[in-house]
Amino acid sequence: MTANKVRGPVIHVQGLTKSYKELQVLRGVDFDVARGSIFALLGSNGAGKTTAVRILSTLLKADAGTARVNGFDVATQAADVRKSISLTGQFAAVDEILSGRENLVLVARLRHLKDPGKVADDLLGRFSLTDAGARKVATYSGGMRRRLDIAMSLIGNPPVIFLDEPTTGLDPQARIEVWQAVRELAAQGTTVLLTTQYLDEAEQLADRIAILHEGRIIVNGTLTELKQLLPPAKVEYVEKQPTLEDVFLTLVGDNGKNGNGRNVGTNA
Ligand SMILES: Nc1ncnc2c1ncn2[C@@H]1O[C@H](COP(=O)(O)OP(=O)(O)OP(=O)(O)O)[C@@H](O)[C@H]1O
Ligand SMILES: [Mg+2]
Repeated sequence: MTANKVRGPVIHVQGLTKSYKELQVLRGVDFDVARGSIFALLGSNGAGKTTAVRILSTLLKADAGTARVNGFDVATQAADVRKSISLTGQFAAVDEILSGRENLVLVARLRHLKDPGKVADDLLGRFSLTDAGARKVATYSGGMRRRLDIAMSLIGNPPVIFLDEPTTGLDPQARIEVWQAVRELAAQGTTVLLTTQYLDEAEQLADRIAILHEGRIIVNGTLTELKQLLPPAKVEYVEKQPTLEDVFLTLVGDNGKNGNGRNVGTNA
């Protein structure tokens, strides 16, 4: 990685469009993600979140626009992009019959790492799975599986990680465990792009939140900036600050007429 690739946003997306036959899913998506930050792409079912993540991870070709990840163009430098990222899909990709440690060792071997056992033990420790490491994954809870799945995607230390709905289907305790793991990743300098339909997840985790609606990013900013889009409601004598849910529902609404781009951020 040359120095000029390290500067600037680690993910840069401009004018991305994608249609499936006549269904226009992405209609000109623009956003940037700063290195070491957590960026949440928020949207309703079918908004195009997975489509965007698949394009950024080179699994799918965009119709138009550009996307660069870690300085590499997803269309023309796909191999370099793949070396820079990992993708954790919605469903855990772990082998049930193997133990957690065996799963990690297997992936480390596949990636030709020097000491697969040490890589596995380090990751088990990092994700609080040391005690469960020798147990078959079949006996793990949903949160433990998800943590193992994220741990597996970190083998080889990719600078950018995509998490597509990392906590869908998890109970509150397991979600908190995954959130903690994601926070630790970002604290160590990994850039995280996650998709979610949970407003509280974006609220809890993200440095910046972008709402994808009708094919475009309709807002992009910090939680504070997003909340400032709505005036506080005066309840009795107390000003009630809008929640992210208020902001989301106001912007996306039921019929969602708000398709014009709005950017409250300073550096996007
Ligand atoms: N391979 C495909 N062929 C045709 N249509 C597709 C294909 N993949 C996705 N779509 C459609 O594109 C739209 C966006 O799908 P996408 O999976 O990107 O949404 P999403 O935001 O990830 O939704 P969810 O929150 O449900 O995961 C949906 O209407 C979906 O049905
Ligand atoms: Mg999806």
